[in-house]
Amino acid sequence: MAQITVDGDTFEVEDGTRLVLALESNGIDVLHRCGGHAGCTTCRVEFTEGEPGRMTRAEKDKLADRELTGVRLSCQIPCEGSMTVAPVMRVSTSAFDEPGPTPEDHITPDPEWVDA
Ligand code: FES
Repeated sequence: MAQITVDGDTFEVEDGTRLVLALESNGIDVLHRCGGHAGCTTCRVEFTEGEPGRMTRAEKDKLADRELTGVRLSCQIPCEGSMTVAPVMRVSTSAFDEPGPTPEDHITPDPEWVDA
């Protein structure tokens, strides 16, 4: 099991669970406007513990395209170990009234893993 901490609360999820889904299923209203396809960056989180040392090619390219640093895309990250994160964009603090299409259970697009 992986331990995920957000806002001081810790919950456990199965290893490999997509982080965006782990957050949402535990009551965190993180946005995922593209449905988890590394297209929108609204699922971005800041890590304070447990940031993975690898990332998908899709995540790396999208973060570079948007010139985003210090954040990771929760739709591109499988939960493992102990992770402490802060979602950056939430339904409750955005102009959206729902988070976006439900991401699939597996990482999309098919991951090509590269160093973070
Ligand atoms: S980049 Fe759109 S949901 Fe992750």
